[in-house]
Amino acid sequence: MALTSELGKQIKLKEVEGTLLQSATVDNWSQIQSFEAKPDDLLICTYPKAGTTWIQEIVDMIEQNGDVEKCQRAIIQHRHPFIEWARPPQPSARNAKDCMVSYYHFQRMNHMLPDPGTWEEYFETFINGKVVWGSWFDHVKGWWEMKDRHQILFLFYEDIKRDPKHEIRKVMQFMGKNLDETVLDKIVQETSFEKMKENPMTNRSTVSKSIMDQSISSFMRKGTVGDWKNHFTVAQNERFDDIYRKKMEGTSINFCMEL
Ligand code: A3P
Repeated sequence: MALTSELGKQIKLKEVEGTLLQSATVDNWSQIQSFEAKPDDLLICTYPKAGTTWIQEIVDMIEQNGDVEKCQRAIIQHRHPFIEWARPPQPSARNAKDCMVSYYHFQRMNHMLPDPGTWEEYFETFINGKVVWGSWFDHVKGWWEMKDRHQILFLFYEDIKRDPKHEIRKVMQFMGKNLDETVLDKIVQETSFEKMKENPMTNRSTVSKSIMDQSISSFMRKGTVGDWKNHFTVAQNERFDDIYRKKMEGTSINFCMEL
């Protein structure tokens, strides 16, 4: 049965420990909770729209080009760090303003998520953490605080954008692989925004229009740092900075807001 955008607008969300999730996720929550990671699993723990697909592609390419005997399973999750996992998570963060913009456009085109409403309405929804997978602030702060206590590689979208080879090398080392420079260069090329936008495996062109309508907004939309400047009004920006200061108080994390 085709799902229409009207149906998408009626999407029901449920809460788990104060975090909004899609009903289907909540209905299978006990399975998710009891999932046992293997000792050498790699967990990619991104807040939605922080570059999950990008990291996954980088990890996959490192895996494909690495030692065949030492295959590692990569598992994606957006969850808060409220449950500890057995093995090295690899959180990746993106500055909150660009995340908000990206999530807004994603909710416009993804009929499995609630309609975001106007940008002004979405601004309120996002700062109040009333989006699927909850508050950006809780997610990022939580993982940041956990990073020194566990075997965690914390990556920033903006760093990968600025110096992809440097960051890809970090992922490679974290995964215990050793790839030569030409292979690293190839991974940098193949995981560029332009290449991934053309690649049906990463651009979601195989997903039905009734689920993701890319005529509204592309899944591989802009892939830039600082698009928030095209969306935030001066007043919204001031208000956001104020909220950010309060919510992230006491955290040493620092985001690059433009390149
Ligand atoms: P934009 O909407 O700002 O373009 P996720 O995979 O977590 O859903 O994140 C999607 C965001 O990451 C989108 O951001 C997408 O364009 C961006 N992205 C995906 N691959 C990228 C790449 N290779 N380089 C830069 N940005 C990328």
